[in-house]
Parts: sequence; structure tokens; C-alpha cells
Amino acid sequence: MRQTKKPSESGSGPGGVELTVAITGASGAVFGRWLLRALEADERVERVHFVASENSLRVIAEELGVSGRSGLVEKLVGAKPKKIIQHADADIGAGIASGSHPSSGMIVLPCSMGTLAAIANGLANSLIARAADVTLKERRPLVLCVRETPLNRIHLRNMTLAAEAGATIFPVIPAFYNKPLDSDEMARQFVCRVLAHVGLAQAGAYVWGED
Ligand SMILES: Cc1cc2nc3c(=O)[nH]c(=O)nc-3n(C[C@H](O)[C@H](O)[C@H](O)COP(=O)(O)O)c2cc1C
Repeated sequence: MRQTKKPSESGSGPGGVELTVAITGASGAVFGRWLLRALEADERVERVHFVASENSLRVIAEELGVSGRSGLVEKLVGAKPKKIIQHADADIGAGIASGSHPSSGMIVLPCSMGTLAAIANGLANSLIARAADVTLKERRPLVLCVRETPLNRIHLRNMTLAAEAGATIFPVIPAFYNKPLDSDEMARQFVCRVLAHVGLAQAGAYVWGED
């Protein structure tokens, strides 16, 4: 993942990686949790703009036992975040809603079929959909970690539309060849793959054939 421009080049913004992370209402909140943890711990990352969709809160409560929007990042990360800023999904005036805001890209993990549809069809009707729209128009990396099964034709068409517009469709399909013992390890290794894909290879990532 390329760095955002240095202040001297862009007139604003830090020199390190600054990216947007969204969690939406698909199953797999544990994957979003481990993504936030990895980015919070990564010294190359300067700032993370985080948006949780309204419907993700229900899934996060069901799957992780974490409820409410207040203090959500701290509850997900397990400590007071130093670099993660949370925005409301209704706040379409947030910086990340504009292409003028420096950004290294955006990851949606997990990405529901509803959010996929909004992004693939350019609805830009929430901060998540608008930030993704901006990411595509600025030709920055957009990774959609979609999760649904089975997939209907609408899902498949929307994935094609998003991919044709420049997004990477990165389904939440964890690996088993590293023999994960629990869902945390499964999620952690999946997040390593996502971050490696955007140029943020992680120490501790399982690499096949490197035993
Ligand atoms: C426990 C739970 C699990 C869900 N899992 C999925 C899922 O895996 N994929 C999906 O597309 N929608 C799933 N949904 C439905 C979405 O939350 C729903 O379509 C919602 O409108 C998505 O809104 P959002 O994209 O704004 O977050 C789930 C809902 C609940 C309550």
C-alpha cells in the first residue's frame, strides 16, 4: 500500500499510511476486530479512519458480545486506540468522503451483500459507500472482504461490477493449511493475507513452505 503524500507534497496529511476501515453487517466481526488490532500495532500506519455501519452493531453484539457504538474501538481493540478515529456512517461530511483527503486506500471487512450492492452501484448514500466510491474514483486500493453463502446472481453481478470498477473482491474464506486452533487465529491469519495484499506484510504471518 502506497503511503499518503507528505505534507510538503499535498499540503496536508501525514507521511505514513492512512487508510479507511469499515465493518458492515455481515457475519465475521472477529475478522474486523483483528484488522483493527493489526493496524493499531503497525508502526507504518499513521492513521485509521474507522466506520461501523448501523447494522454491523447488531452482528458485533451477537458474535463478540460487544454492544453499542460508544467506546466501540476500545472494546474491539482491547486498549485505548492511539491512531484509530471512529466516524458515524451517517457523517457524509467526514474527511474520507472527499477525494481531497489523503488516503492510502480502504478495506471493508466483513462486507455485507447490502454494502457491496451500494458500492457496486455507486449509491454513495452512507459514509462507507461514499468513501468507497471516492476510493474507486481516485484509483486507490479498495478491498471488499465479502461474506455470504450461497451467492445469488445479484451478489455475483455486484462483485463483477465492483471488480470492474477497480475493487479487489477478497472473500472471507480463511485458510486451513496453517491448522488454526481457534477462530481468533483463523481471523488473524486471514487479516495477514489482506494486509499483505495491500503492501503491509505482517510479522507472524503464516507462509506456506517456509517451515
Ligand atoms: C447475525 C447476522 C449475520 C448476518 N450475516 C450476514 C452475512 O454473512 N452476509 C450478509 O450479506 N448479510 C448478513 N446479515 C444481514 C445484514 O446485516 C443486513 O443485510 C444489513 O442490512 C446489512 O447492512 P450494512 O451493509 O449497512 O451493514 C446478517 C445479519 C445478522 C443479524
